[in-house]
Amino acid sequence: YLLGIDLSTTTAKALLTDTAGRVLGVGSTRLNLSTPRPLWSEQDPQEWWQAAAASIRQVLEETGADPAHIAAVGLTGQMHGLVLLGAEGQVLRPAILWNDQRTAAECNQIRERIGKERLIQITGNDALTGFTAPKILWVQNNEPQVFAQARHVLLPKDYIRYRLTGEFAMDKADGSGTILFDLQARQWSSEVLTALGLPAEWFPPTFEGPEFTGRITTEAAALTGLRAGTPVAAGGGDQAAQAVGVGAVQPGVIALTVGTSGVVFAATPQAWVEPQGRLHAFCHAAPGLWHLMGVMLSAAGSLQWYHDTLAPDMSFEALLEEAAAVPAGSEGLQFLPYLSGERTPHPDPLARGAFIGMTLRHTRGHLTRAVLEGVAFGLKDSFELIRAAGLGQIHQVRASGGGTKGALWRQILADVLETELVEINTSEGGAFGAALLAGVGAGFWPDVQAACDATIQLTRRTPPNPVNFDAYRESYAVFKSLYPSLKSAFA
Ligand code: XUL
Repeated sequence: YLLGIDLSTTTAKALLTDTAGRVLGVGSTRLNLSTPRPLWSEQDPQEWWQAAAASIRQVLEETGADPAHIAAVGLTGQMHGLVLLGAEGQVLRPAILWNDQRTAAECNQIRERIGKERLIQITGNDALTGFTAPKILWVQNNEPQVFAQARHVLLPKDYIRYRLTGEFAMDKADGSGTILFDLQARQWSSEVLTALGLPAEWFPPTFEGPEFTGRITTEAAALTGLRAGTPVAAGGGDQAAQAVGVGAVQPGVIALTVGTSGVVFAATPQAWVEPQGRLHAFCHAAPGLWHLMGVMLSAAGSLQWYHDTLAPDMSFEALLEEAAAVPAGSEGLQFLPYLSGERTPHPDPLARGAFIGMTLRHTRGHLTRAVLEGVAFGLKDSFELIRAAGLGQIHQVRASGGGTKGALWRQILADVLETELVEINTSEGGAFGAALLAGVGAGFWPDVQAACDATIQLTRRTPPNPVNFDAYRESYAVFKSLYPSLKSAFA
């Protein structure tokens, strides 16, 4: 067997597969989120560990699997969160999460010390509030007594690794999301660490996704039910592991995830960057690859908000049926999906949502369709940036997430992106990807591509309908002009 552990923001999940990649069971435990002040988002690392241990026990019990037959464990989880530990490995303060927005001043501080251009050159990325480096500086600036005790920096899932194996270690995909990483060298950047005055010894050794970083300790075995000595693979940050889980491990195969947030993930053969830092550029969890990524904060989240706010008594099916009767382009009605600010292509926490161009002629069906189209246009922005960054030909788009399950939205996405969407047979995303990485480490497959080929099958295909291309191109041109015109109204 293989065990994949996914520490997301909402749940700690443990997924067991057999060596053919068939999912045998999933244990899952909810997590609390704390927002003690506006813009803050925190979680308790101890709670993560208890939840992860509970989920592991749960899946072992449910499946009755013999822990001695688990060949390896793989880890994935929410990226960018700051876990600060003291000399004894003790947690010094709650973890500051990826969606925390308190660090605008520290992002400026980083740009001033390194220069935005140089920062992008080294790390592939601009300083964004979500990333880890500005959070460390925030603690230094605001909680000097905590900072003074700090000896180790970990990312969320690597705290689970620490509790499982007693080792401080990290994978390169997640490491590059700290923006303290030399993207090209796949290693900590001494230039960035020095410029920010951060001691190199606080940062753990980093590993490629399938590499083993340690083994389950006797103490962790007692708490989880796992066998002491079971190896733990590096794994990857959630997006990289999700990409492994859908088989986006070669250039030209794009993973499109339309969940609450929307992600366009493209594996790249080199450490390509978007010169203005509008796309994230990180290491892939598959060795020898990097990736570009566009992140939209409210994708299916926009439709959920729209439904809950304006049509809570209707089923999604009924709403979408009305939208299906409206022509492509929603007869001039536009929706901006920036309900929780945006990352790509507008890294702007103050960006806001809007309906634009309403007339008496428009019906609820138009409003609904405009939401679906606005999200598709926002995702197209990421596709355009990825093409411009050098990917050129996109061979295949693998679509997953709740937003791609309905026929109408899937077709709109295919028509707006002007590309075929394919779906796959596995839906457990990151946890499954982490299990595959562990399987490669254990020698079940020679490499990550082979692991994906052996376990992932393509299912439904949604080809684009060229009849709609003109309407959407026209509408997309208007969409692109709206954020720049409205930006001052949002600030
Ligand atoms: C990626 C990102 C999110 C978090 C939480 O850049 O911020 O995917 O990892 O899921």
